[in-house]
Amino acid sequence: MTIDNQKSSTLSAKAKFKVPFGTVSITDKAKELINEALASNWVTRGKYTDEFEKKFATLFGAKHGVSVSSGTDADTIACAVLYDFGAERGDEIIVPALTFVATGNSVLAAGFKPVFVDVKRDTLNIDPDKIEAAITPKTRAIMPVHLMGKPADMDAIMAIAKKHNLYVIEDAAEAHGAEYKGKVCGSIGDMACYSLYAAHIITTIEGGIMITNNDQMANAMISLRNHGIEGKFQFKRIGFSAKMNELEAAVGLGNIEIYDHILNTRRRNLLHLIDIFKKYDDYFISIREETHEKIGPHAFSIIVRETTGFSKDEFVSYLEEKGVDSRNLFYSIPTQTDSYRFLGHTLGDFPEAEFCSDNGTHIGIHQDLDIEQLDYVGQVVEEFLKTYAK
Ligand SMILES: Cc1ncc(COP(=O)(O)O)c(C=O)c1O
Repeated sequence: MTIDNQKSSTLSAKAKFKVPFGTVSITDKAKELINEALASNWVTRGKYTDEFEKKFATLFGAKHGVSVSSGTDADTIACAVLYDFGAERGDEIIVPALTFVATGNSVLAAGFKPVFVDVKRDTLNIDPDKIEAAITPKTRAIMPVHLMGKPADMDAIMAIAKKHNLYVIEDAAEAHGAEYKGKVCGSIGDMACYSLYAAHIITTIEGGIMITNNDQMANAMISLRNHGIEGKFQFKRIGFSAKMNELEAAVGLGNIEIYDHILNTRRRNLLHLIDIFKKYDDYFISIREETHEKIGPHAFSIIVRETTGFSKDEFVSYLEEKGVDSRNLFYSIPTQTDSYRFLGHTLGDFPEAEFCSDNGTHIGIHQDLDIEQLDYVGQVVEEFLKTYAK
């Protein structure tokens, strides 16, 4: 079932796209489990949620999986876990300037201050060379994002974290199945957070999950997702109401059964588009896979280079006219979203993130797209360049 991702930032939800942005796989197994849960009248957290958490954690090589209502809740609760580890309200967490707004919002929702660091335009991820300048005595953690499923530079990030005694929370919302130097993204930091929203590789429609190998962190997560309860009505922490239910977990279990198929189809699509875009390198910076990494394909990013003679808006309008759905390549949260004006940054403070946003877009590579649809994207780009390129 193809869907129009509701996080659309630039384009209206027009009728039908030849190449839709997102999809959701609801398997027969999921339907069977949903019916069973409904028939049993046990629909809140229960055996399917438990099973989903165990299977998800195993899939990504972690000891614990703690499910929640959204990827945003996962990010928020992982941050709030730090109060069990000496953090205080108002402390700082370092995040990339270019990401979905939920990353910054979660830090604030947990009671911390997000400190933004610019990204690199060729990886879209936090620039490790700029992290140390952002560290203060109040910094408690670094929260890198593996944007588009492309791994952040974890060796450099982990080395900085070790040197300054900081925790690392991986925002792996978009990076199911990504690998960095042979390690699973999500298993490198202290905790990792995934979105299970409909457009993601494993989905529960709405939902999120945290993974960790640390027992104390897992206990805090379990308490925090349920109002901070520990034991019988003992409120140990300022908690949240963020539990996953059985129906959502059933959809997730169905997805885990076909995970290899989803991941392999997305990887086939990613590699095919990478191949198509090789010949357009003079015009676009598009997502690339380096030998040390395996992208967990969320979507395909395309940034219009500065010297092409056409604008991102012209390119995106052409794509839309031809039925290729797209989303803006996010924004520099501190300088290009109204809600973060209160931090006092000014345009130009995060030039790389701003450049990616001003000139970037991303299109779908999900499991319901076939090679013909991707070749069609190639044709559309070719036609566009014939008309618009200098
Ligand atoms: C990088 C990133 N972090 C966090 C989230 C929040 O996830 P959710 O929409 O499930 O709350 C998203 C959403 O896709 C995301 O892309």
